[in-house]
Amino acid sequence: MNYDNETLRILHERVSCRNFTEDKIDLELFDAVMEAGLQAPTGGDFQPYSIIKIENQATKKELAKLSRDQNYVAKAPVNLLFCIDWRRIKRMTELEVTPFNATDNMMDFWMSLVEIGIVSQNVCIAAESMGLKSVFIGNVVEFLPEIKDLLDIPEYVVPAMLVCLGHPKSKLVKHKKYKKEIIIHNEKYKDQTENELKASFKERYNNKQMKITDKRLEEYWKNSKRMHGEKFADKSVEYVKKSGGFDFYQYSFGLFYDELEGAMTNSDYFEFMKKNGFAWLEK
Ligand SMILES: Cc1cc2nc3c(=O)[nH]c(=O)nc-3n(C[C@H](O)[C@H](O)[C@H](O)COP(=O)(O)O)c2cc1C
Repeated sequence: MNYDNETLRILHERVSCRNFTEDKIDLELFDAVMEAGLQAPTGGDFQPYSIIKIENQATKKELAKLSRDQNYVAKAPVNLLFCIDWRRIKRMTELEVTPFNATDNMMDFWMSLVEIGIVSQNVCIAAESMGLKSVFIGNVVEFLPEIKDLLDIPEYVVPAMLVCLGHPKSKLVKHKKYKKEIIIHNEKYKDQTENELKASFKERYNNKQMKITDKRLEEYWKNSKRMHGEKFADKSVEYVKKSGGFDFYQYSFGLFYDELEGAMTNSDYFEFMKKNGFAWLEK
């Protein structure tokens, strides 16, 4: 498609990149991207975040390991770890004897998490406009204590998203998105009918099916049983067999994002938040 508007073109052509060349990112280019990205809107005008730039090969390798072995993390020339950071603000308020309780409210934490999404995407779009490519790596948040140790991250600072930046090595394939009519509700929320739901899913994922193998069926049964019990597991396996393959959600939720040994559980997150200065879960 041809776009007269450069911003629309960039937004339409943005694609996640998982294959980077070994070329470093020129420092001037990097600085220009970051300066533009940091112009993002920010709740209360506070900017409660920090970004750690990582180029050291050994550290990137460790981050790749801590993101379910996604090896392109190590190959990208730059990793950016976006962290919620109330520490800088808290310290300043302490220096100026200012009343401050943003670390005691879930609402403030929630806002800062939203900010991570906004500023990181701003950086990615700025990068895109300068010919760089990026990919978000969400899986790092499954190993927060290890990441904090690795990067000397103190209390009141929480890693929230990793972004890999670099030059693309090969042509990238664009993922289809849901049509805007599916996402946008007019005035009030309206559920799709079951038929509409199935049709939009089919259109979005192109009826893509992942192959059935004995090993996958076994894993799928185990994961289904863990989530919903044995009766459901039998039913879900039968359903997949009858369909002749795993659809995108069956594969994603039932196989791909499998429970990972050592990854944080809900209670680990609870303890982690408390230990790092965010006690609002208990209040
Ligand atoms: C919150 C979030 C977490 C993501 N985590 C990962 C990840 O861990 N690994 C990865 O390869 N891609 C990750 N992605 C990228 C998505 O897989 C990608 O955006 C999606 O497949 C759509 O493709 P596109 O970005 O090319 O349009 C993440 C994206 C977002 C927004």
